[in-house]
Amino acid sequence: MIAEEIKKRRTFGIISHPDAGKTTLTEKLLLFGGAIQKAGAVKSNKIKQHARSDWMEIEKQRGISVATSVMGFEYKGTKINLLDTPGHEDFAEDTYRTLTAVDSVVMVIDCVKGVERQTEKLMEVCRMRNTPVMVFINKMDREGQDPYDLLDEIEEKLSIRVKPLSWPIGMGKTFKGVYNLFLNRLMLFQPSRPELQDDVIEIQSLEDPRIDKEVGESAAGRLREEVGLVEGVYPDFDVQEYLDGKVAPVFFGSAVNNFGVRELLDCFIQLAPPPKARATEERVIAPDEPDFTGFIFKIHANMDPKHRNRIAFLRVCSGKFERNAPYHHVRLDKPFRFSNTTAFMAQEKEIIDEAWPGDIIGLYDTGNLKIGDTLSAGDKSLYKGIPSFSPEIFREVVNKDAMKTKQLEKGLSQLMDEGVAQLFSYEMGSRKVVGTVGALQFEVIQYRLKHEYGASCDFVGTNLYKACWITASSKKKLDEFVDSKYRYIARDKDGKLVFMAETRAWLQMVQDNFPDIQFHFTSEF
Ligand code: G4P
Repeated sequence: MIAEEIKKRRTFGIISHPDAGKTTLTEKLLLFGGAIQKAGAVKSNKIKQHARSDWMEIEKQRGISVATSVMGFEYKGTKINLLDTPGHEDFAEDTYRTLTAVDSVVMVIDCVKGVERQTEKLMEVCRMRNTPVMVFINKMDREGQDPYDLLDEIEEKLSIRVKPLSWPIGMGKTFKGVYNLFLNRLMLFQPSRPELQDDVIEIQSLEDPRIDKEVGESAAGRLREEVGLVEGVYPDFDVQEYLDGKVAPVFFGSAVNNFGVRELLDCFIQLAPPPKARATEERVIAPDEPDFTGFIFKIHANMDPKHRNRIAFLRVCSGKFERNAPYHHVRLDKPFRFSNTTAFMAQEKEIIDEAWPGDIIGLYDTGNLKIGDTLSAGDKSLYKGIPSFSPEIFREVVNKDAMKTKQLEKGLSQLMDEGVAQLFSYEMGSRKVVGTVGALQFEVIQYRLKHEYGASCDFVGTNLYKACWITASSKKKLDEFVDSKYRYIARDKDGKLVFMAETRAWLQMVQDNFPDIQFHFTSEF
């Protein structure tokens, strides 16, 4: 039974640079999956640039992102779990963590803009785990870059080989459709066609004269030529290479016009991997092992100000999860039972009694769970793989209300558990520095500390360049380093040693002078 459940699950995330069309594609996938009935039902989970200081927006974003964080739906007998990732780059860290819970990703690229900065960063995260990537080149109804140039750009900037599994017939005003090389069928393009209406022509060969009839002789001729070229240039598609994260199959389409989306989905369910084995600190656990294991990759706190509870998002990795069963909390070495467990189906949450590998469930928690925690039916090893990245912006915390010191500490600690930012406490004195990926986080922290914990603080700019986790082959060497750089040594929330470097040049010098010390830019090493 467990093998059956695993075989039919696909857990994936959609990633893109903001505005490439992630929200639109998500919505269309849900429409095809029958999870929603009409367009417009999925609200954009993004904070636009102009809304930077709009608190309502942020609160809304938190609300929306709980509702739409995980969208489960069924398509042709496959249970699909789609994990949403925040588009705004200041929330990139949240995206990185979410990517640890998926088995594959679909990357959306705007054909006009090509590979953008955020796409490159996200690809680096996929590469860290060899996550299989499928590419959807979107907005083909606009005059974009030449498809060959786009493919070259992807190979170059994202350091992954590509294999087009579909090929566009024209582009922009002359966009006529897509020929799917994997399923051997032709899709014709009509802008603003009624939703979900199919216009698929099944053909056995590219020589079929129906192609000429449908798209015109000259476009048909060009298609044959281009497909011939594509097949000559790119080696045959090898599924295993895709599953190993070495080759990205590429699809072309226009999400807003419902075009190419079904192509993508049909190929996705055939190609994308079901839940895979995962490594803990001690061993690799296969999804079909009978005993339940899973890990927490996301936490949402204080959604309802009247109830101080939080929802922890757990990815089931092996075995069957059962509501109310006693499970082992590996970090705390204590048993826990979860009576209130939810599954996320498109827009609703529903109570569930059981879940299988690949599923994402929400656990109501009163403060015992942290990002990265492992729960199991007995296994005592912790899942690896939820890294913290060295932040890019640092500010020192200044308490503005001495009467509320306790609230400030509690609030900061809980927000750090949620992964909003990283806190570094200096060994010398009581200096605390918050590090984030984006500036927006500081505003979020200040606002939430005030509204959820009644504490107020200021953030003062620091002249820090990087926080690097440090290790050494011997304790003696590490101690010597810490002694000599004591003023610049801090600890992260887990008590790990961190070197706070003030400039790039200085960090380089220290690295050169202390060859026995390893400086790490992610917390996972
Ligand atoms: P994101 O989640 O990646 O940030 O992107 P989103 O789906 O919100 O899409 C960004 C903009 O691109 C939207 O326009 C959307 O309508 C448009 N778009 C998405 N797919 C296509 C496509 O295939 N072709 C064209 N031409 N446009 C597309 P907007 O003006 O920002 O918002 P809206 O008012 O249209 O919702």
